[in-house]
Amino acid sequence: MAKPLKKALGVDIGGSGVKGAPIHLKRGELVTERYRVETPRPATPKAVANAVAEIVRFFDWKGPIGCTIPGLVRDGVVEVASNLDAGWAGTHAARLISERTGCKVAVVNDADAAGLAEMKYGAGKGRKGVSIVLTFGTGIGSALFLDGRLVPNTELGHLQLGGQLAEDIAAHSVRESNELEWEVWARGHVQEVIDHVEFLFSPDLLIIGGGVSRPDRWAEFGHLLLTRAELQPAALGNNAGIVGAGIVARATIPRKRKKKKARSASTSALPSP
Ligand code: BGC
Repeated sequence: MAKPLKKALGVDIGGSGVKGAPIHLKRGELVTERYRVETPRPATPKAVANAVAEIVRFFDWKGPIGCTIPGLVRDGVVEVASNLDAGWAGTHAARLISERTGCKVAVVNDADAAGLAEMKYGAGKGRKGVSIVLTFGTGIGSALFLDGRLVPNTELGHLQLGGQLAEDIAAHSVRESNELEWEVWARGHVQEVIDHVEFLFSPDLLIIGGGVSRPDRWAEFGHLLLTRAELQPAALGNNAGIVGAGIVARATIPRKRKKKKARSASTSALPSP
């Protein structure tokens, strides 16, 4: 059996930026500072794959790549990615990015990646029971775990609350575009989404991720949220997605190339921590 990977390039594709860094897979850390490019507009599959290729060139990377997608992903194929271009629906993202970069590629939902990283190295390390990671950014992402094992593609940001999507009520982009005070956003908007998620899943642990988990931002609103579950900010902050992408690359891409041609990998067997 091939030995597990030591390093992979983790790339996090977001609504505003595409960020990447080589990941040390044993430690779950970035090997060097991450490199960021703006998400192209329109964010078509080709344009975004080119942005990933730019990151690959920056690091002169030749090895395996784990890549997050802000949408529903199954076996390398994107089914929906509402914060990117509509052309992503049905795109074999793993194959496309593999062709653009010449590297083996595994793809995974962005919040699932962040969740995997938090459960393996961060706020959820070693936790049993039901844990939920909610990421607040351009949209709201979610990752659901039972005893550390992921239930992929939960898409809780698309829950309907009073006829509106949860992410249209409480994403961090909503706070920014409406210039809401942290308190108004937390007590009025985020709390409504959290209440509903708690009602549905009764989690033991709730981890809040995305850029809002940065200590200075968390200090503005974390203490205002009321939960039955234990509440924690993501320990890996906004790098959780990149680290999680690396974890998925490790779990799904064998270390040694069996054939010369670059091939994409399936993410059907996502790892547990
Ligand atoms: C997408 C999710 C994604 C989340 C955060 C949502 O709009 O449907 O797949 O995880 O945004 O990027």
